[in-house]
Amino acid sequence: MAAHPLDTETAWQLVLQAVNRSNVTLAVPETSEAAVRLNGRGAWHLLHPATDKANDLLSLFLPLCRPLEDGTVSRVVGQLGQSLDGRIATATGHSRFINGADGITHLHRIRAVSDAVVVGAGTATTDNPRLTVRRAQGPNPVRVVIDRHRRVPDSHHLFTDGEAPTLRLVAGTYRPNRPARIESGVTEVPCLGPCHDSETVCPTNILRVLADFGLRKVFVEGGGLTVSAFLRAGVLDRLHVMVAPMIIGSGRPAFSLPEIDLLEDALRPRSQLVNLGSDMLFDLDFS
Ligand SMILES: NC(=O)c1ccc[n+]([C@@H]2O[C@H](COP(=O)([O-])OP(=O)(O)OC[C@H]3O[C@@H](n4cnc5c(N)ncnc54)[C@H](OP(=O)(O)O)[C@@H]3O)[C@@H](O)[C@H]2O)c1
Repeated sequence: MAAHPLDTETAWQLVLQAVNRSNVTLAVPETSEAAVRLNGRGAWHLLHPATDKANDLLSLFLPLCRPLEDGTVSRVVGQLGQSLDGRIATATGHSRFINGADGITHLHRIRAVSDAVVVGAGTATTDNPRLTVRRAQGPNPVRVVIDRHRRVPDSHHLFTDGEAPTLRLVAGTYRPNRPARIESGVTEVPCLGPCHDSETVCPTNILRVLADFGLRKVFVEGGGLTVSAFLRAGVLDRLHVMVAPMIIGSGRPAFSLPEIDLLEDALRPRSQLVNLGSDMLFDLDFS
């Protein structure tokens, strides 16, 4: 009898099995049938029939699961959910929801395979997000907010709900405690330089601080200014841009990068296009 094709739920179980593993064969949990072979260099082979959607899920997520190479500080994935005209929110900051249900589930899945989910103070203040994994099976990442001026209200979910640890990166000089410990509630980490400084802190320095806390698989979830700073610094390995069939016509831009005169200077990473259902996903590979 022909094997029943893997569906997305089973493919997601395989993805969770793949986190930090290589050179193994992943098996279907209920039947123990061999399903996916991971080799040591990030490649994988399907050993079992799968639906197109299950195949898409594996090709998007298995690269995010493999162990970090020796000497690599971090693996960084960014995301933005934007309208057809490249906006991530209205001018007033309203962004719930640009992406549809499938796009939001995708976001939760990236959280589930990451050590840390990072947002800027703008997103944390405006959206009051929880940044937990609720629409997929999998663990919550550590939540990180870049909040030099402590402008995110103390009453917001990240600081009060206790659903996952939160690191609040604030102004000050970084003095590493080794081994650095992540408390179950909120840990303030002075590391963003002088409070009066308006310069963007180099994302490489932020990644080093997170690595001290053992947070190496980093998901930069937004907003536009924060993701753009990581992109400009050249530290994103992947960028998932989810495009919703919607025109806002004004509002907050997805990307803010220095002006260029010639298209030859535009970024043209390798890309894979995946139809999520509610949104089209561009999986951009900068590694
Ligand atoms: N559609 C989506 O995918 C999506 C995702 C997330 C958010 N959003 C929307 O996007 C809007 C917020 O985005 P945004 O671009 O305005 O702001 P943002 O990126 O969320 O936050 C930017 C702020 O974070 C701090 N920050 C970030 N990186 C920093 C760095 N490297 N060094 C120092 N400080 C840093 C700074 O805070 P200070 O100014 O305090 O120094 C900066 O002004 C909201 O309306 C939200 O709803 C949409």
